[in-house]
Amino acid sequence: MARIFLSCLLLLLSAAFLPAEEYVPIYDEKEVPEYTLPDPLVFENGEKVETAADWWKRRAELLRLFSHHVYGKTLQGTPEGMHFESTKKLDSFLGGKATLEEIRIHFSEGSDGPFLDLLLIKPKEVPEAGVPTFVALNFRGNHSIHPSPEIALNQNWVSESSSDRKAGVVVEHKATEKARGFRSSRWPVEMIIDSGAALATFYYGDVDPDFHDEFKNGVHEPFGVPGKGDWGSIGAWAWATSRVRDFLESDEQVDQGRVAVFGHSRLGKTALWAGAQDDRFALTISNNSGCGGAALSRRRFGERVSRINNSFPHWFCENFRQYNENESSLPVDQHQLIALIAPRRVYVASAEGDEWADPRGEFLSVKHASPVFELLGKAGIAAESLPGLHEPVGGEVRYHIRAGKHDVTDYDWEQYLKAIHSLP
Ligand code: GCU
Repeated sequence: MARIFLSCLLLLLSAAFLPAEEYVPIYDEKEVPEYTLPDPLVFENGEKVETAADWWKRRAELLRLFSHHVYGKTLQGTPEGMHFESTKKLDSFLGGKATLEEIRIHFSEGSDGPFLDLLLIKPKEVPEAGVPTFVALNFRGNHSIHPSPEIALNQNWVSESSSDRKAGVVVEHKATEKARGFRSSRWPVEMIIDSGAALATFYYGDVDPDFHDEFKNGVHEPFGVPGKGDWGSIGAWAWATSRVRDFLESDEQVDQGRVAVFGHSRLGKTALWAGAQDDRFALTISNNSGCGGAALSRRRFGERVSRINNSFPHWFCENFRQYNENESSLPVDQHQLIALIAPRRVYVASAEGDEWADPRGEFLSVKHASPVFELLGKAGIAAESLPGLHEPVGGEVRYHIRAGKHDVTDYDWEQYLKAIHSLP
């Protein structure tokens, strides 16, 4: 009797401590549900897009749909009083082959409002046309991309560690000298400079710290706290890349026709949304962006809409939550986000060991965006199925899958350099 009582008690206790709903990802193609994708070339009212002129109308419709249902409405344009403060200028960096500048972009008048710190590294030798430039968001502060003591240590909160993240705790970690170059494996600065390109990078947490605080910090409060249809953090990070683009417009050493936006993972989602909204980006690069980025939501493979909304309630707009376990009702899917960037160049990259981000779903997205590129006279993806490892495919919209895990590697950057240098 006592034994039965004890096992009942244990059962009850274990049930009490089980997470309310255990998330079970789909990792087997056989479990991917049948789905029909919304056609980028058919208007909401069922009419077909026949010409390039029709496409621009359809594009406006899609942009509104993504704003309303997924990322939220972005603050429009350059805020009043925004100004740039040069905080450092070095004529010689990387043994003399580069220059380094640090610029504080104040989003409002004065110096008490929100700002981001931009690190701009350019080749010393600049041709008359200027240099192609990557606008790149970083996860851990500008000082984390290279060990040089010349780069200012970020004074803002610098992300929580991954163990804290798992435990759902946010702990402040101020950047220390030890953090210099801590992420340099993802940032081959010399390779970029040697190729003749420049890097303009900033820490995404300057714009909006990456945790859910009802939008009390970052740019949301001063520029409007989100209501149901308003921008979440991805919207704010994407908006900030456009403010960096504003700054670059005044730099004569930048080739204005060859500026790219780059991001990895959640910042890859951000890069796609930025590229979709701002046509001053001639190339948009999504590295392992997955759910809410390049991967098709309707496949439900790996991370799903419900999971991303529950784990990161601040990333998207509130409307997106309606599609938790209900992807087929979404009026859009992510191939249409890529189509929004056409005819400008897009590069989507996956990693074989990154199933959470659904590499096949990322490939299918670029594949199904291709008809829009083709309508606009650009080459899409001809390949019918996922290409082999390290076999980039495509024309103006490109894709590769490499060996290895969720990461940014030199192989990825080699492809991005080819993509930026071959821009017309
Ligand atoms: C988590 C999240 C992903 C995201 C990734 C990252 O894994 O579920 O959606 O892309 O973090 O940004 O590192």
